Amino acid sequence: MSNETNAAQPANTASNAGVSTKAGSGPAGATLPAAGRHPAPPCTLVIFGAGGDLTKRLLMPALYNLSADGLLDSGMKIIGVNHGERETAEWRDDLKKSLQQFAADKASSFHTTQLDEKAWDWVAQRLQYMAGEFESDDTFSNLKQLIGTGAGSNVIFYLAVTSRFFKPIVERLGRAGLLKEDEGGGFRRLVIEKPFGTDLASARDLNAHILSYAKESQVYRIDHFLGKDTVQSILAVRFANAIFEPVWRREYIDHVQITAAETIGVEGRGQFYEQTGAFRDMLPNHLFQLLGMVAMEPPNSFAAEAVRDKKADIFDAIQPLHARDVVFGQYGKGPAGPGYREEPDVAADSHTETYAAARVFIENWRWAGVPFYLRTGKRLTARRTEIAVHLKTVPFRLFRDTPVDTLTPNVLTLRIDPAHGTRFDFNVKVPGPVMQIGPVQSAFDYADFFTERANVGYETLLYDCMLGDATLFQRADSIETSWAAVEDVLHPESGPLPVEGYPAGSAGPAQSDALLARDGRAWRPLAPDNVANTAARKK
Ligand code: BG6
Repeated sequence: MSNETNAAQPANTASNAGVSTKAGSGPAGATLPAAGRHPAPPCTLVIFGAGGDLTKRLLMPALYNLSADGLLDSGMKIIGVNHGERETAEWRDDLKKSLQQFAADKASSFHTTQLDEKAWDWVAQRLQYMAGEFESDDTFSNLKQLIGTGAGSNVIFYLAVTSRFFKPIVERLGRAGLLKEDEGGGFRRLVIEKPFGTDLASARDLNAHILSYAKESQVYRIDHFLGKDTVQSILAVRFANAIFEPVWRREYIDHVQITAAETIGVEGRGQFYEQTGAFRDMLPNHLFQLLGMVAMEPPNSFAAEAVRDKKADIFDAIQPLHARDVVFGQYGKGPAGPGYREEPDVAADSHTETYAAARVFIENWRWAGVPFYLRTGKRLTARRTEIAVHLKTVPFRLFRDTPVDTLTPNVLTLRIDPAHGTRFDFNVKVPGPVMQIGPVQSAFDYADFFTERANVGYETLLYDCMLGDATLFQRADSIETSWAAVEDVLHPESGPLPVEGYPAGSAGPAQSDALLARDGRAWRPLAPDNVANTAARKK
């Protein structure tokens, strides 16, 4: 994570007329300040799972973007390992086709009207395919030969494979001596994808296994939410502005809502999802990472350990979740299509949850007593990842003799996806002779101030790993404390949690609303709401 500060020139400033500070749709004025302009050191990137979806969909587009930005060293090599013989040329062609498909897809975060051929050729020239079974020792001796020495002594092993291969690959890398860092300073790093275990015991076991072959400082555990600029920006919004920090505590904040709502279903991943479910897939990892960013104490610097220590304190302070504070749901047939049980590779009587909501408390001085409501689900009415910080309502006394019935609390919304920016809900006087209060919104959208570049979210993560910056990666202890906090939900003494149905295309199960209603609160609606809508409502 870069710690450079850059003054962005807004395309349109906040001085726009009216209550809304949302800038107009004029041309964006500034190029997005790039993270650290110097290229990463030379290294060999070994990708296990060269033929997989992750490689095509995320790693290659990210390498392409890094190449276009001149952030890769000319000495870089990329070795793709996969079972099945094939020529390097064929692999390259396949990757290029996928890249072109994603570029043409308007819904893809890699969408672009024109691919930079030079940037792709730069990557393509460095690609080398190696056939090999992940559980065969021969693969690793062949790999050792291929990596060789010299610039190749810096090596990143990227495990873009299904989680059952994590242990066998790490073990064979270790036994082959491929994880040994040489005295001359060449690094050996391991990048491990999610899911990192399925509960506390399995995560501990996996950590212990990995750490018997590599040092913690060599291990980069990915949570791709941390690769999103809008997630990294949470720290900037909180700590680079004087206005937020004084109120960022239990005295002023009523509660926080963290939402990761999706419209997609399980997208052909029925087999994986049947064993995983929404809770394991999203809660103790992606949503806890957002919780950590929004709740952590200010670190003294952006140094990896400074940031990770503060986040670790939050995970450690999470009160273990109880089954009564968690709601599970599963989508059935609805306006958005067929039910989960009709998806391929899903049991006709499946009880796997496709929706999960939880009420979480952080037991520390800043947050004690403030509920954090987390929810995530597939096939919901809208795609929305956001954090809404609800402030307490002000005393009503002043408005007692006016026609004002209620005051709407202030809400600061950090919008992560698909909208990128922030929104602030506050109250003003409605023009006219009487004191009438009107709730209004002020919104900031990244696209109005910066040129948003195609970014799949893995660029920063790959680049940081090459630089040896682990800030955005998960540490062993944090992974374990996160799993520990949800242990009672994963293995409830009173038997499996009930799974309530909800129609595909709805806002989720009724019990989820009840979870907040019993505290006198309500979820923010999932339907699209923006400044324009508010203006329209007023007409
Ligand atoms: C993945 C989950 O880790 O994150 C998916 O396995 C989910 O089920 C995805 O759809 C959401 O990520 P994003 O970046 O699309 O919000």
